[in-house]
Amino acid sequence: VLAFLGTAVIAYFLGCFNGAVIVSKYILRDDVRTHGSGNAGLTNFHRTFGGPLTFVVILCDVLKAVIAVLIGAALIGGALQLDTAFAASLLKIGNIQAEDYGKYWGGIWCLLGHMFPCMFGFKGGKGILSGGAVAIMIDWRVALVVWGGFLILAVLTRYVSLGSCWAGASFPFATWFVYQNWIITLMALFIGGMILWKHRSNIGRLIRGEESKFTLHKKEPK
Ligand code: G3P
Repeated sequence: VLAFLGTAVIAYFLGCFNGAVIVSKYILRDDVRTHGSGNAGLTNFHRTFGGPLTFVVILCDVLKAVIAVLIGAALIGGALQLDTAFAASLLKIGNIQAEDYGKYWGGIWCLLGHMFPCMFGFKGGKGILSGGAVAIMIDWRVALVVWGGFLILAVLTRYVSLGSCWAGASFPFATWFVYQNWIITLMALFIGGMILWKHRSNIGRLIRGEESKFTLHKKEPK
């Protein structure tokens, strides 16, 4: 229980370090959430400001997710190895290792922090960059499904949000196929559900044909 609680608290606060908010608010002194789609994420940062600071946003959002997953794997993996009876019962479900539970658990809390950061008025991002990093840390097959579909859709249509919706929707399915474990599939469903919920306004704009397309250089007027 302590390992789950500890991971949750650490991963949530790591997640709160939202790259787009920190760089725009403290370096550019112009909160990204007052521009474009209002989202505190890479797409809107690039759309609004662009430039080399975009890489700082990427570094921040990827790094925190990597650390959160590693902490989850270490703490929960370690705790489950100690509690052999409990671990044995959990490890019988599907193709799973003790640390896999920790990776998903760390990922959930990191994304909750990223999407709802307590120090930034609970107004964060949509969890695609950090969630993508979580997927890579979890398993290459899960990452391949999520990232492969994302890239194909985003590049072909230039709607980043369409690729993002694929990522959110496919994550629980990919998890199930790889692990056949309902506990982490439920966790993946929760993550995917949060991502889709965060994209509800994008989905509305996509349906109405009003979603903005990704461009490499052009920035929207501020
Ligand atoms: O990663 C977020 C992306 O899917 C959509 O961002 O700013 O167009 O709402 P935005």
